[in-house]
Amino acid sequence: MEGSPVDSRLEDLVIQSHKGPYRVRFGSPFEGLESGLGAREHLLVDARVAELYAGPLAAALKGPSVLRIEATEENKSLERFPAYIGHLLKHGIRRDHTLVAVGGGVLQDIAAFLAAILHRGIAWRFHPTTLLAQADSCIGSKSSVNVAGYKNQLGTFTPPKEIRISTDLLETLSEVDLRSGIGEMIKVHLISGREDTQGIAADYPRLLTDRPVLLRRIRRSLEIKRELIERDEFDRDERLVMNYGHSFGHAIESATRFQVPHGIAVTIGMDLANYLSWAWGFLGRELFEEIHPLLAANIRGFEEVEIPEEHLFLALGRDKKNLGGDLSLILTRGPGRMFRGRVPQDENLRRICRDYFKEAGCQSLLR
Ligand SMILES: NC(=O)c1ccc[n+]([C@@H]2O[C@H](COP(=O)([O-])OP(=O)(O)OC[C@H]3O[C@@H](n4cnc5c(N)ncnc54)[C@H](O)[C@@H]3O)[C@@H](O)[C@H]2O)c1
Repeated sequence: MEGSPVDSRLEDLVIQSHKGPYRVRFGSPFEGLESGLGAREHLLVDARVAELYAGPLAAALKGPSVLRIEATEENKSLERFPAYIGHLLKHGIRRDHTLVAVGGGVLQDIAAFLAAILHRGIAWRFHPTTLLAQADSCIGSKSSVNVAGYKNQLGTFTPPKEIRISTDLLETLSEVDLRSGIGEMIKVHLISGREDTQGIAADYPRLLTDRPVLLRRIRRSLEIKRELIERDEFDRDERLVMNYGHSFGHAIESATRFQVPHGIAVTIGMDLANYLSWAWGFLGRELFEEIHPLLAANIRGFEEVEIPEEHLFLALGRDKKNLGGDLSLILTRGPGRMFRGRVPQDENLRRICRDYFKEAGCQSLLR
């Protein structure tokens, strides 16, 4: 990628939340951490990031209160929290102290949950280091913690005080990690409408190679998400469209035993939701075909992964958003026109899914 200091040229974004406004700033890597942490700050850092960026983080890593955490699902389970809390109490954490999280979505979930429960709520700041965290999860207030082997069953709405983004940190991510984050970026652009859909489709070939283009789309993704979360911070109504592609996405991740990364599975999920919308008469065929090449480009390399049909539908049936015996799916009438549909889990649904995988998709659905 080009190496110009582009990040700091972008204007801050201010997000309104029930805890007041908070700010997303675009700047150089680990801005504010170069000279170490203050006496009232406690660092929670992704162990891999601490190793990869030992130089720029040197001063912060010498701080009195540093918790290095490997970014695994086990480490964001409730069972691990007594150890984190013990560490922070031992290091004198008080109500007026701040947690400083450096890492991706896993570190975000741990820090936000700790910030919500410690002393009934303390401040936290976030330096996201994955594309998913920079372009999507860093705003929206949510923390999600695993418990008793179940994913994301506990959570709070705890926005950080500030978020500092630098795309320089994305250089050490693999192409697949980046494309997984791009899947979520495509999602919000499709939710926004036709102009943004065409914009990201035109930029897609350069997102991996041209940092200013990627950064502009990260900021636009956050702007689009901001509109939704400011209207529905607590995920009761309008924000539900953010689940577009996710019911099938989660089921595909589970059925392939996580061979398909999250954002790629969501990309397949959006294409499948579009196909179902067409099959049920909500979406014109020409719109399905207009959007498909962008989604297909982001899926590439995962076309051959086999998806066991029984496992896929079992996982779909377990989605916590389902209503009674029916599935709750986000369907579409076109870019910017997503809606929640209640869909019976019957042979008709299975037949259309099989047709998708045969015709439009490229995955092999194993029966
Ligand atoms: N709270 C929310 O709103 C929200 C939203 C979406 C996802 N999530 C959660 O986020 C988690 C996924 O987060 P994620 O995709 O950001 O990744 P992650 O935090 O799971 O990290 C993925 C991998 O990338 C490594 N890594 C992080 N930054 C790196 C860098 N700059 N260079 C090289 N390697 C780096 C990590 O060590 C890890 O191995 C899931 O647990 C998911 O449930 C939360």
